[in-house]
Amino acid sequence: MGPRSAASLPRGPGPRRPLLPAVLPLLLLLLPAPPGSDARAGRPPHLVFVLADDLGWNDVGFHGSEIRTPHLDALAAAGVLLDNYYTQPLCTPSRSQLLTGRYQIHTGLQHQIIWPCQPSCIPLDEKLLPQLLKEAGYATHMVGKWHLGMYRKECLPTRRGFDTYFGYLLGSEDYYSHERCTLINALNVTRCALDFRDDEEVATGYKNMYSTNVFTERATTLITNHPPEKPLFLYLALQSVHEPLQVPEEYLKPYDFIQDKNRHYYAGMVSLMDEAVGNVTTALKSRGLWNNTVFIFSTDNGGQTLAGGNNWPLRGRKWSLWEGGVRGVGFVAGPLLKRRGVKNRELIHISDWLPTLVKLAGGSTEGTKPLDGFDVWKTISEGSPSPRMELLHNIDPDFVDVSPYLPEYLLLLQ
Ligand SMILES: *[C@@H]1O[C@H](CO)[C@@H](O)[C@H](O)[C@H]1NC(C)=O
Ligand SMILES: *[C@@H]1O[C@H](CO)[C@@H](O)[C@H](O)[C@H]1NC(C)=O
Ligand SMILES: *[C@@H]1O[C@H](CO)[C@@H](O)[C@H](O)[C@H]1NC(C)=O
Repeated sequence: MGPRSAASLPRGPGPRRPLLPAVLPLLLLLLPAPPGSDARAGRPPHLVFVLADDLGWNDVGFHGSEIRTPHLDALAAAGVLLDNYYTQPLCTPSRSQLLTGRYQIHTGLQHQIIWPCQPSCIPLDEKLLPQLLKEAGYATHMVGKWHLGMYRKECLPTRRGFDTYFGYLLGSEDYYSHERCTLINALNVTRCALDFRDDEEVATGYKNMYSTNVFTERATTLITNHPPEKPLFLYLALQSVHEPLQVPEEYLKPYDFIQDKNRHYYAGMVSLMDEAVGNVTTALKSRGLWNNTVFIFSTDNGGQTLAGGNNWPLRGRKWSLWEGGVRGVGFVAGPLLKRRGVKNRELIHISDWLPTLVKLAGGSTEGTKPLDGFDVWKTISEGSPSPRMELLHNIDPDFVDVSPYLPEYLLLLQ
């Protein structure tokens, strides 16, 4: 940790006001739109959050990359591009903030990722985004990477507010076998195990199927079967584009001009992910949900330059506190945005999504512990100044910043 982070101290979202005055239940009967939701349509909007893994700043077409991302580019161009948007430099801390709206210094997740044999998860007394949305009447589905702990059943996504879950609970699996191998220090042996679940059951039968295709198909099936009158929260946490660098052959061909082998594979993986996002938005449109959807795309941290990622012109990479590690690719799309086709320069942080989405849903954050996130919907939708003046990267004497690069950390880079 450098002086940069020490200079940023946490600031709460300010005093809480009761969300609804006591008379509101009566007024509710007379109002056409749900309170708290300033979405244009009368009903609470469908919320679709696509989280990419380790996607770097210079890995999307709309940032000028050599990698082509036509679906993402079109969505970003017609939506609001987040240009001053920050995440954590690592997976577990970022994901924990997304789902709690709180800095990870409050949850014990500030050191690193949760390792396969580590008995840790988001503390069970934290109220998570899907729980709050469920209380607001939403159907809540999660597909993809959890990485927020699994040592007890109570830690699983299905026990933390998601109606359904399909995906993997750790990180760095093989895209085809869905196995995660890990060294068990106490035994000095490496063991591999299938990490793929359908709700809480182990999901066999997906061997040799590329995870992003499997997840996309599950997401589109959920969308197709979703009753449009019920608000939907879909959290699609893709495996793309984290290492291992694996992708079907056909996605490599358009990038034969790339000499660097890692970058070549990575480019193919980004293209496949772009196609996945295209399939998801097509499904939302076919099902008639799109016109009442707020669609968010975000990375969880900066690109891993040792595994094909590129954050140019930002310095640093995943796991570092340089801009390349923490400044995230992100945009919001959908017809409910009041201003579209704009680049937003206001400061926004990954912890801001919880209060923003719960407010959009017409729900209440009263059940949470004190939030660090701010409701930034007006900032995103209307371009008003961000309520956020600063952000906290971390407070943790144990955090190992990987810049400058030391070879022994290569082992840790998962
Ligand atoms: C762990 O096992 C490897 C061989 O698999 C051996 O070379 C190494 O010395 C062992 N380490 C310890 C600490 O026992
Ligand atoms: C997108 O949908 C098409 C048509 O169903 C399918 O062939 C393709 O594999 C899908 N892409 C992904 C990444 O799932
Ligand atoms: C959204 O699209 C569906 C299907 O095309 C249509 O029935 C519905 O009226 C539209 N809703 C709004 C708010 O435009």
